[in-house]
Amino acid sequence: MADLSTSYMGLPLINPLIASSSPLTGNLDDARRLEDAGAAAIILPSLFEEELLQDQQQMHEFMDHQAIGHGEADSFLPPSSDYKSHLDHYLETIATIKAAIDIPVIGSLNGVSLAGWLEHGADLQQAGCDALELNIYYVPANPEETGSDVESRYLQILENLCAQFTLPIGIKISHSFSSIAHFVRQLERAGAKGTALFNRFYQPDIDLSSLQVTPKIQLSNSIESLERIRWIALLRAHVQMDLAATGGFHDANDVIKAVLAGADAVYLCSSLLQHGIQRLPEILSDISDWMHVHEYESIAQLKGSVCQKHAIEPAAYERANYLKTLKSYQRSDNN
Ligand SMILES: Cc1cc2nc3c(=O)[nH]c(=O)nc-3n(C[C@H](O)[C@H](O)[C@H](O)COP(=O)(O)O)c2cc1C
Repeated sequence: MADLSTSYMGLPLINPLIASSSPLTGNLDDARRLEDAGAAAIILPSLFEEELLQDQQQMHEFMDHQAIGHGEADSFLPPSSDYKSHLDHYLETIATIKAAIDIPVIGSLNGVSLAGWLEHGADLQQAGCDALELNIYYVPANPEETGSDVESRYLQILENLCAQFTLPIGIKISHSFSSIAHFVRQLERAGAKGTALFNRFYQPDIDLSSLQVTPKIQLSNSIESLERIRWIALLRAHVQMDLAATGGFHDANDVIKAVLAGADAVYLCSSLLQHGIQRLPEILSDISDWMHVHEYESIAQLKGSVCQKHAIEPAAYERANYLKTLKSYQRSDNN
């Protein structure tokens, strides 16, 4: 039996498959099922600072409304000790899941203000998360803001959190940076213990009947994994921190390629939403079979063996690949 163990953000993992933030990771039943199915860790759905602000505002409006001219109505207010905010529920869920499963439970935070990142990072640490992932979802639409301003935002948040907390902190980034290799190295220097590449940015759509701009969520497909695999291969020799691949990992082949490129862990989300949690043991068994056939004894042996530094043709991950790719196109009979 192959040794599938690895690590992410310095946490020991029984295999490389992490169930990434999704509706599947935010409740006790599914968390237990994910562990039983073989997930090596789970990442909770993000705690969104803007949701907490909305929640607080609604509570204040409710209290104010009750207080205006309806003195007797104050007695209808729930005693404050019974009231549970969204944050209370979230933190309780972490504590419940943590108490019930043995695999690492990683918190995820999506802040708005630096104060919010720090305050709620502290909440997640206190609730017992084994590590914290920063899910920074920022669309740099301000033409006055330079690329380095945008990078500084990320680095500032990360540095502040790393300085304040003892739990390992990782970050999930999108591919929208002009120099990904430089930026990822900066993340490591700022204290990140892991970087997950790449977050998927959902694109709003225009509804042609209402002319409204509407949010649209689409699950990924395997083609998207190739960009992640390429960047992990390019980065592997340049950073010491753990790297996770996220976005488009659906089957054992996708996962094996990511590990060959140098990924320490691979996140699964769309694949579990599409095929159910039972997809996990199928992927694990296919990975073990592939390793057996190719005579690999451990993930450690496999990891990074086709990263850019060790690839037979390192240039294939860079420019040289472009020309070859264009030339590989075969015209079909109808054009
Ligand atoms: C329904 C849904 C909810 C998600 N919620 C979160 C979230 O709360 N925080 C987060 O960082 N990512 C979230 N994600 C992103 C996933 O964790 C994952 O990074 C992304 O979907 C790419 O992986 P995939 O190709 O395996 O789906 C969500 C994705 C989906 C489809």
